[in-house]
Amino acid sequence: MNFKDKVIYQAYTKSFNDTDGNGLGDIKGVTEKLPYLEKLGIDMVWLNPFYPSPQNDNGYDIADYTAVDPMYGTMEDVEEMIAEGEKRGIQFMFDLVLNHTSTEHEWFQKALAGDKKYQDYYIIRDPVEGQDFPTNWESKFGGPSWEQFGDTGKFYLSLFDPTQADLDWRNPEVREEAAKIVQFWIDKGVKGFRFDVINLIGKDEELVNATGDIDQEKSLYTDRPIVHDYLRELNQKTFGNHPEVITVGEMSSTSIESSIGYTHPDNDELTMVFSFHHLKVDYPNKEKWSKAPFDFLELKEIMHDWQIGLGENGGWNALFWNNHDQPRTVSRFGDDEKYREKSATGQGHILHFMQGTPYVYMGEEIGMTNPHFTELDQYRDIESHNAYKELIAKGKTPEESLEILAEKSRDNGRTPMQWSAEENGGFTSGTPWLQLADNYKEINVEKELESGEIFPYYQKLIQLRKEHAIMRDGSYASMFLDHEQVWAYRRQLDGEEWITFANFYDTPVSIDISSEVDGDKWNYLLGNYGEKAFSQVLELAPYEAVTFTNK
Ligand code: GLC
Repeated sequence: MNFKDKVIYQAYTKSFNDTDGNGLGDIKGVTEKLPYLEKLGIDMVWLNPFYPSPQNDNGYDIADYTAVDPMYGTMEDVEEMIAEGEKRGIQFMFDLVLNHTSTEHEWFQKALAGDKKYQDYYIIRDPVEGQDFPTNWESKFGGPSWEQFGDTGKFYLSLFDPTQADLDWRNPEVREEAAKIVQFWIDKGVKGFRFDVINLIGKDEELVNATGDIDQEKSLYTDRPIVHDYLRELNQKTFGNHPEVITVGEMSSTSIESSIGYTHPDNDELTMVFSFHHLKVDYPNKEKWSKAPFDFLELKEIMHDWQIGLGENGGWNALFWNNHDQPRTVSRFGDDEKYREKSATGQGHILHFMQGTPYVYMGEEIGMTNPHFTELDQYRDIESHNAYKELIAKGKTPEESLEILAEKSRDNGRTPMQWSAEENGGFTSGTPWLQLADNYKEINVEKELESGEIFPYYQKLIQLRKEHAIMRDGSYASMFLDHEQVWAYRRQLDGEEWITFANFYDTPVSIDISSEVDGDKWNYLLGNYGEKAFSQVLELAPYEAVTFTNK
């Protein structure tokens, strides 16, 4: 299996391309844009959940794992999309949320109706004497993580929204159901899976109160050792029999050590993991819902630790800056006005030259920005609305709270794809489910393909991976880790060496690299300011990124 030359594109289904005018992206919309994706050069498209769902958490609350929500299309549409993709060398990665189901799922409904078999699918407990709930755990979306289970006096665990009920993976029947779902999609020709918050599936039989801080609390249900057993079982029953299938586990608050375990090929678990520590460098004291500058040294150090940690121990990283749960990094760590192009290409450069599998999130390849919303009713996301209420309850003014949302809300990354300068960015002929960023007249695919510099740069980054083994298999080592403005590292393979330098800020910088880089026989490979002569004293323009090779 060679998955290492692949680049994966994430299309947030709901916001990608609407072909029927209902204001939501759809499956046909993905098929329609396959030529565009082929042009970009990506190999696989990860689609966010399009299964029937009440949409309380935008489809991460699944009511039926093996069907298509009519608002997104039909099973025939999915089959057509897969077949059309195949013609263009594009495969699909589907998103499975197996930690929890929607409370509208048939299993939960049967459980509520008293069916013991299905009650055993969920984590249902009596309250503990002296406290309101079975444990004192907090939901990740705010409030307690337990909800009343009908009128039984018992509670069911829901680590996210109350309408997302956690499954009990200790029950072998649940594991069998999960395997059936995965196999169903493999049989449809799906070649990849993204498993949502999959390191949370290993809850203990006996659940206990948290006694320390939030990290101690999370450790009670995160990365429990049994997760490895469940993943291996799923692997062996399903995708392990199809070596071409690629899997990525979305890992909530995981560790390097656990992730080596999840991704080491000898363990037969997953191909790679998404971890999120690098996207918490603007959470002062772990507080996401605050406005704060990012810590550049911490960002570099975290990426470095994961590069080394997984790279030197047989694990494998998924590399990403953006996804549907994150504000856009061009706005977050770059400059989305004056240096939008250079910060977008610079960030892409830094990521793609590292070791791991790069993911490009819809719109990243044209430098889409946060929408800079100013009103609460522009937001759709449940987590953002809950956070707003909590901020107000804590004494923040509406203005302050909205400013925080404008920086941290997940809706920043979810605004519809900007295809053209037409109304609604060419995304829909109807009313978009979420307002577009109003810069779509200047920032859109049509214009980018005509005269932009970001899309062609991403094309090059993707193409280089196909041509150079060092980009896939080369070892990684950092340089100047404590430099406050420059990101630098090297890759090596069989005598070949690539060195990358990037200015992460909007002021020029000069760096003497002679302590790390010998000689001057270095040739320019790629840079976002074009051809550049090598020098022991490198001058880097705002957001400039450049790689030199010794070949
Ligand atoms: C993952 C998804 C996110 C969802 C959560 C609960 O983090 O990416 O969108 O809200 O899981 O399923």
